[in-house]
Amino acid sequence: MSVNVNIISVPGQQQYDDGAFPIVLACQTEGATLEQVTAWVQENQTELAQQLTKAGTILFRDFPLAVDQDFDTFIKAFDFDNFRYEDSLSNAVRVNRTERVFTANEAPPEVTIYLHHEMAQTPIYPSKLFFFCEQAAESGGATPLCRSDILFQKMEEEIPEFAKACEDKGLLYTNIMPAENDPNSGMGRSWQSTFRAETKEEAESRLLELGYTWEWLDDGCLKATTPVLPAVRVLPDGRKTFYNQLIAAFKGWKDSRNDPSKAITLGDGTPLDKAAVLKAADLAEEITFDVPWQSGDVALVDNYLVMHGRRTFSGTRKVLASLVAAE
Ligand code: FE2
Repeated sequence: MSVNVNIISVPGQQQYDDGAFPIVLACQTEGATLEQVTAWVQENQTELAQQLTKAGTILFRDFPLAVDQDFDTFIKAFDFDNFRYEDSLSNAVRVNRTERVFTANEAPPEVTIYLHHEMAQTPIYPSKLFFFCEQAAESGGATPLCRSDILFQKMEEEIPEFAKACEDKGLLYTNIMPAENDPNSGMGRSWQSTFRAETKEEAESRLLELGYTWEWLDDGCLKATTPVLPAVRVLPDGRKTFYNQLIAAFKGWKDSRNDPSKAITLGDGTPLDKAAVLKAADLAEEITFDVPWQSGDVALVDNYLVMHGRRTFSGTRKVLASLVAAE
């Protein structure tokens, strides 16, 4: 027996020329099993991929998923290649639940994670992300999502010089990594874990290979600056997206080691126009959709097209994630 899955609408959903954002698919078969919905994913892979490319996000609602293992089984049905946390240069401290599934961010509830494209501040990034709500927070805890192509259009209209500077020059990101994981920071991953190194020499050879410049600090921390990374990405269909971590870095890269105003510059080393960055952040906020998590929901996000973040929350929130490698 096949399952009945239909497009539904949810409050706050956005409408663009090319359709709804996000696309919301609800499983409306009473008592559907995990086996049935994974079979449905397999049968509809092509159509799902097309919807994702167009809208940037698909939210799966009322599918029979309850725990991390169910999520793991569901995402395997898409046949995407896994992107391993060990291979990434992500700043976040993470804990794996299964080989593919990890806790989204261990940072405390009062910490806001600002909008970003996953790992766009490093040369190694995933093409897509899955989020799974195992347990919705008591209040707050939405995952804000923002269409980055729409944002860049608005930037070209409202802050054209800044949009052009970003596109032409790219960005440099600098961050200070601790010598030991710091779970109290949203960017507390140690340099050893980030670069899979045990010694400074091993870290240096990896930094060199990736095109970073660096400085060792007296307290054992590593201050690392990326090679010039693009701030704008052109998708295969010609849409330009504001593909970077500028907003997150500028507003959020703040902990006991990091000062956001020094974390990011244009690719030629010139400072950013602060007012323009704040304007870009405001424009993004205006077109942000907050995923109203219900336990069991899955969101599939195109990382090249849509930014994500995390609102503050109270109570227990368990949102798991899984990343898909670039093709
Ligand atoms: Fe993220």
